[in-house]
Amino acid sequence: MLKGKLITLEGIDGTGKSSIAKMLRTKFPEAVFTMEPTHSWIGEAVRRSIGSDTDPLAELFLFVADHAEHIARVIRPALRDEKLVISDRYSDSRYAYQGATLSHTFDNAMEWLQSIHNGWTIVPDLTILLTIDPGIAVSRCGIRGEHTKFEKIEFLRIVQENYLKLAEKEPQRFVIVDAGAELEVVARKVESAIRGFLTANL
Ligand code: TYD
Repeated sequence: MLKGKLITLEGIDGTGKSSIAKMLRTKFPEAVFTMEPTHSWIGEAVRRSIGSDTDPLAELFLFVADHAEHIARVIRPALRDEKLVISDRYSDSRYAYQGATLSHTFDNAMEWLQSIHNGWTIVPDLTILLTIDPGIAVSRCGIRGEHTKFEKIEFLRIVQENYLKLAEKEPQRFVIVDAGAELEVVARKVESAIRGFLTANL
């Protein structure tokens, strides 16, 4: 029986998601903070794939392998210990991003991606989806240096649409937060969404 709670942070590149995850560490010191891609050797392989022109299907299975390892080593043990787990990216990243990279390979890539996770993934209790105008997102990514293949405006527009479709299908799991505002304002909204969830569910 998994008695902990799993909260995930999602959104396209440039939403400030990782900075928000960092700020949340001080607000929820009792939580286990984690991320995908992970820091395991499989996560390293994923990063090599992101920085190269690896076949999208091969790349997907690296992400999926990383997710399996993440669940086995971090997520399931922490939830068994009744911990609050907060993950910077998780399975919805696959549905949204690889739903875009594989959109020409499969008729309904997002559904297919969900089907290959079914039966073994652990569905989050709450997912905070940060949304932003993809143009602003890309200009924010630019500040950090070179763009990866996942940081192009048209691509991110499709990824964000995919995220919004997921949120529409599961409104009870998703909270959408506008990430266009100042980082502190966004972080405060995210914190209060998490506190609201914990008050209602613990
Ligand atoms: P991440 O390290 O979270 O990048 P950032 O901190 O810039 O948001 O993720 C790396 C990239 O990998 C990012 O562009 C999103 C992408 N990604 C996928 O395409 N699929 C996935 O399943 C995951 C976890 C990430």
